[in-house]
Amino acid sequence: MSELRYDCSGVNLTDLGISDSQRQEVDARLLKAREQVVSEDLRLLATGEIPEHQQPLDAAFFRLPEKLLAEYEQQPETSQLGRILHTAQRIRETVDAVALLGIGGSYMGTRALMEACCPPYYNELSREDRGGPRLYFGGNSLDNDATRALIDRLGGGQLAERVEDRWAIVVISKSGGTLETATALRQMLPYLKSSCGDDSSQVAERVVPVTGDTGRLGELADQLGCPERFPVPDGVGGRFSILSAVGLLPAAILGLDVVSLLRGAVQMNEHFEQAGATENVVLRYAAINHLLEVQSGATTRVLSVWSNALNAVGLWYDQLLAESLGKAEQGATPLTTVNTQDLHSRAQQHQEGRRDKMITNLVTEHSRTEPICVGPSSQGEDPLDVIQEKTLPELNAAAIAGTNRAYQMVGRPTADLVLPASDELSLGQFFQMMMLATVVEGKLLGINPYGQPGVEMYKQNMKEILGL
Ligand code: PA5
Repeated sequence: MSELRYDCSGVNLTDLGISDSQRQEVDARLLKAREQVVSEDLRLLATGEIPEHQQPLDAAFFRLPEKLLAEYEQQPETSQLGRILHTAQRIRETVDAVALLGIGGSYMGTRALMEACCPPYYNELSREDRGGPRLYFGGNSLDNDATRALIDRLGGGQLAERVEDRWAIVVISKSGGTLETATALRQMLPYLKSSCGDDSSQVAERVVPVTGDTGRLGELADQLGCPERFPVPDGVGGRFSILSAVGLLPAAILGLDVVSLLRGAVQMNEHFEQAGATENVVLRYAAINHLLEVQSGATTRVLSVWSNALNAVGLWYDQLLAESLGKAEQGATPLTTVNTQDLHSRAQQHQEGRRDKMITNLVTEHSRTEPICVGPSSQGEDPLDVIQEKTLPELNAAAIAGTNRAYQMVGRPTADLVLPASDELSLGQFFQMMMLATVVEGKLLGINPYGQPGVEMYKQNMKEILGL
């Protein structure tokens, strides 16, 4: 594969108090965990004979990229990916804005993809430069002002005759009943209807649901007569659904190359299955983070991203780790930092605070645009003349090296995860790597990474308070 690299040479396990036998023991368990992910879990899922301690088992995310690509190759028009691309193209041509309603796993992946792969300020570009609609996120909070602003941004229900004024809703909810998403849809539908002049066939075409087989959202889609509806497949959990229609449809609406995204994930699957324990990026990442967490007290896991475009990629991982492994009073606490911004807010603590952190730098090898030089100054207002020929990527590289060296000097464990580029192929590799590593880590911890039983309690309380 065009290599995503994981370099953990800066982590000295012996200095961190981890013995050879502890390391070997984890290595042996890692291989067993891989075996389970590659065959056993999928077999259990297929037969439906899932032991109680493994329920729910949402292991179907693993082979989903291969499945979607194979079906697409055989039937480019009628396969699910073919239909996603077709619907995305229709939306791109007929509207100028899309409100994506969803929360948690039903929106964080799209946000990550949009920020990482679309140009910065995408929504502010002209329609010609965008090539498709603006994308706004809603239904991910109960924030009154944010909801009002979104409705107004979309024209507040004004009749929209020109493409430039038209908008659509992509509503994503696996359960079909999540309060935030359902509320936002209920609030926005009347505005959409009036923007369509109450033409029910236009309304139907401008609502695209992505949802599970059962649930209220599916029923509503039937009532509206939506011509297209996409599934969140059985056995794929919310935060593991980025490479299903949940992430692929919005990504395709943004004009992203979803085939490359899936190919990146397939490459990672092949690597995961074939590479030995020492070269395997999934197994290495899981092993280092697991050992440091349970043997060395590194219970805070920092994903330190070195470009603004990767901020939401970090937040996607925050959710994946927190909801998957934050169970039975275990699981590291994720924290995304964006650098160099956060060197001026968090680095002090990372250098001298509690020794409870494992830091992974997430870096892209190349910037997406031509490197910009520091440049000359006619006033001599600062002492930067000596670096005037240097570029921002060179300055950023110096900041990464300088920070790594500073942490190493005081024995703070740091590793690098290097993406060849901030593009679909690299991100496909990254997303699949992190989902697999999380499942493997769950097996090392003895925790079921799927399901999120802990979020039910607040929901129940809230329903009680609301009399729902
Ligand atoms: O990972 C998960 O399963 C959750 O974060 C869900 O994605 C989130 O709660 C939204 O659920 P739904 O897609 O059912 O609306």
